[in-house]
Amino acid sequence: MTLTFIVDRAETDQRRRDAALRELSFGAAPTDHMITIEYHVDRGWHEARVRPYGPFEVVPTSRALHYGQGIFEGMKIFGTEEGGAVAFRPDLHAARFRRSAERMAMPPLPAELFIEALEMFASVDGDWLPSGRGTSLYMRPFMFGTEETLGFRPARQFRFCLFGTPAGSYYDESVGSLSVWVSHEHVRAAPGGTGAAKCVGNYGGSLLAHTRAVAEGCDQVLWLDAHDRAYVEELGGMNVFCVVVEDGETVLRTPPASDTILNGVTRRSVIELAGDLGLRVVEDRLAIADLHEMAQDGRLREMFACGTAAGVAAIGRIKDGEHDTRIGGERTPGAVTSALRERLLDVQHGRVASRMAWLR
Ligand code: COI
Repeated sequence: MTLTFIVDRAETDQRRRDAALRELSFGAAPTDHMITIEYHVDRGWHEARVRPYGPFEVVPTSRALHYGQGIFEGMKIFGTEEGGAVAFRPDLHAARFRRSAERMAMPPLPAELFIEALEMFASVDGDWLPSGRGTSLYMRPFMFGTEETLGFRPARQFRFCLFGTPAGSYYDESVGSLSVWVSHEHVRAAPGGTGAAKCVGNYGGSLLAHTRAVAEGCDQVLWLDAHDRAYVEELGGMNVFCVVVEDGETVLRTPPASDTILNGVTRRSVIELAGDLGLRVVEDRLAIADLHEMAQDGRLREMFACGTAAGVAAIGRIKDGEHDTRIGGERTPGAVTSALRERLLDVQHGRVASRMAWLR
């Protein structure tokens, strides 16, 4: 499916762009334009627009505001050394956006339209792409239910929007590694729920625990499963990996993607890239008690988080009630974490040929 985009050009404010490219503060400086596409159950997808970035009107009855019919993606375009641009796995993001929509009783945007929106965006605001390693143009495609009634049923009208911001590191790299706080009181997702969908409610429901984690001096919540409160799931905005030594072999362990864990594009990429580094990956349940034990007896060598915004980020500390466990050298990402991080960046910046990246 293709649509003809109506293009309404914004005036470029070069000074604003230069400042944004200098500061690279995550999500702080949207580019000049955004894309919108409308949906109505009787008309399907229509009215595709490129328009100046800015506020739009939302009816107070909007389904997204009351019943949480809202989903999003986070994806990135990276610069190459030759001055080109690489979109990182947009096909996987388009597919996940469709899966999230289906879970939330929203219309799945055709993948071709998702890619077209991305290409239109890159064609109008490609000059907002920063050039340093690890920097990118971070894009936020999202969709929400609009509509002029409050009855409890799926909306019949939706808006898709895509905007982007130049981005550097999500975390302050001088900090060296992240610390995570284990939540026992709250859970992020339950079996049969929406945990695998990138829907707004998953994030809203996580914020209280997040504030607790911050109050405990940590960066992120490490979520446990809802049923047993015993197995590691994810960090809410990122997936989690452990580097452990088992019978003399270095193995990468991560909880399996399920209906309570977001199937991260970076997660999947890390699993694929680990093979290139000769690492065996075990996707299996990981008990928090075993994690503490492995940290105690030295089998847990490294731990890291991964996601689109943060890339691969070392975890140096787990705070869990009485346990306050340090992993590896807190200030230095371990060798495996660093190797995976660098390999991923090589692919993302188009330095090594890979089917993961789309060169344009
Ligand atoms: C991303 O990694 O792009 C995300 O969606 C996480 C976000 C909460 C920063």
